[in-house]
Amino acid sequence: MSKEKIFEIKNLEKAYSISKGLFSAPTLIHAVNKISFDVYKGETYSIVGESGCGKSTTAKLLLNIEQPSSGQIFFKGKDIATFDKEEWKEYRKKVQIIFQDPYSSLNPRWTVGKIIAEPLELNTTLSKKEIVAEVYEIMKRVGLEKDWYDRYPHQFSGGQRQRIGIARALVLKPEVIVCDEPVSALDVSIQAQVLNLLLDLS
Ligand SMILES: Nc1ncnc2c1ncn2[C@@H]1O[C@H](COP(=O)(O)OP(=O)(O)OP(=O)(O)O)[C@@H](O)[C@H]1O
Ligand SMILES: [Mg+2]
Repeated sequence: MSKEKIFEIKNLEKAYSISKGLFSAPTLIHAVNKISFDVYKGETYSIVGESGCGKSTTAKLLLNIEQPSSGQIFFKGKDIATFDKEEWKEYRKKVQIIFQDPYSSLNPRWTVGKIIAEPLELNTTLSKKEIVAEVYEIMKRVGLEKDWYDRYPHQFSGGQRQRIGIARALVLKPEVIVCDEPVSALDVSIQAQVLNLLLDLS
């Protein structure tokens, strides 16, 4: 039996227009230059390349944080550029991201509980009590202590912070997780821990 195709990326291109000064014409920087690839259900698909080759931009395009200059992203056979409001809502639940830098991707003024609960508050009709129960459950899965619910991001180590980011990405039980170098900002000793956690969860 053939596996379900989750993503089909076709000739994806993102160019940024950079202005170099008042009197020179803006130049175009190709962050992503016509890439194509498919991702199937159950597989881990990796994109490897030197710094600045467009990995983070590709992740942002997949999450619709940025929009392509040309090319298409098909999710389960449908071009995401043609999604209506309902389809976007579903997509935002099903496709989550873990960012490269756990220091800048968590709101410093929110408690861990609030950070992990927010996707549930925005995307489900669960009661407050049910949301708290879900958050405790996911905290346990990623190895965060229950007592830490009311702590703030600065009270955690880099590895623990990335666990918070992973918990937030997982709490809606997504079908796809886009990881943008989820361990590159962490100490080597913690990198293996977080990678093992991601493997366990997949
Ligand atoms: N908002 C932006 N405006 C202008 N240029 C940008 C913007 N975002 C990215 N770029 C440029 O696009 C290129 C690709 O950047 P991107 O962040 O996707 O690379 P990367 O592969 O993730 O690199 P790294 O391994 O360092 O994280 C770089 O040359 C970068 O300077
Ligand atoms: Mg990057």
